[in-house]
Amino acid sequence: MNAKQCAISKDVFGLSGQVALVTGASSGIGRACALALGCAGAKVVINHLAESSKDAAEVCREIEDAGGSAFAYAAGVSNEDQVVAMFTATVARFGTLHILVNNAGIESSAKFQEMTLSQWQKVIDVNLTGMFLCSREAVREFLKRGAQPGVSRANGKIVCMSSVHQEIPWAFEANYAASKGGVDLLMRSLAQEFAPQKIRVNAVAPGAIRTPVNRSAWGTEEAMKKLLDLIPYKRIGEPDDIAQAVLWLASDLSDYMNGATMFVDGAMSAYPAFRGAG
Ligand code: BGC
Repeated sequence: MNAKQCAISKDVFGLSGQVALVTGASSGIGRACALALGCAGAKVVINHLAESSKDAAEVCREIEDAGGSAFAYAAGVSNEDQVVAMFTATVARFGTLHILVNNAGIESSAKFQEMTLSQWQKVIDVNLTGMFLCSREAVREFLKRGAQPGVSRANGKIVCMSSVHQEIPWAFEANYAASKGGVDLLMRSLAQEFAPQKIRVNAVAPGAIRTPVNRSAWGTEEAMKKLLDLIPYKRIGEPDDIAQAVLWLASDLSDYMNGATMFVDGAMSAYPAFRGAG
């Protein structure tokens, strides 16, 4: 987005004066979320894995070029010490935190009878335990800081990246589907626990989005054709389709949303195979 588009986004979403941390922000959906939040005025922490330092630096540069502030921080979201250090660094650098986007996620496909414990554990660690650790540190900071009238109506906002597979079973991806089912109840339990403290916790459930994670699902003409059979809206999603929903959930425009999942999936979760059948 250019400076003019960012000025409009700042007016509409009003995130100036707020600090956001996006996990897994060096590529794909996380990158799009970081750019959208930065453009809307938030200072952004770009969490990434050590091996993605170059990509993360590029995301920071794009935010700064559009007039925003950002810094990159390498940490594995399932490593408690690294997560705690990342939140400490965020507060040291930007003063506090208002928005957490729990985005980091991985897939590790296998026939269930062949799935190793390490495949199971890794996916649960990153997709679910990572959200636990990052949300806990975010909530601690939100509670400590309290209200900041004029900055945001809520004392803190968490957006969890779920998936249509929190709802749709996924053969050969049992670890992934189980992690996303867990995300749903983690998110709703946190919303229930912290609503009285004015902390909002919501989720976005993307369908098939064009990112490096699922390249095999769209990378060839044949794969794309198969994929589009599952998408009634007949196009693959783009990272920015998800970022716009996240931006809205992070802003005061959605102040009465708490404990909800927004499906952003071109109607993939509307059971397309039943159209004219069943
Ligand atoms: C997965 C993608 C998949 C999509 C729809 C997402 O949660 O990460 O790999 O294409 O769900 O099945």
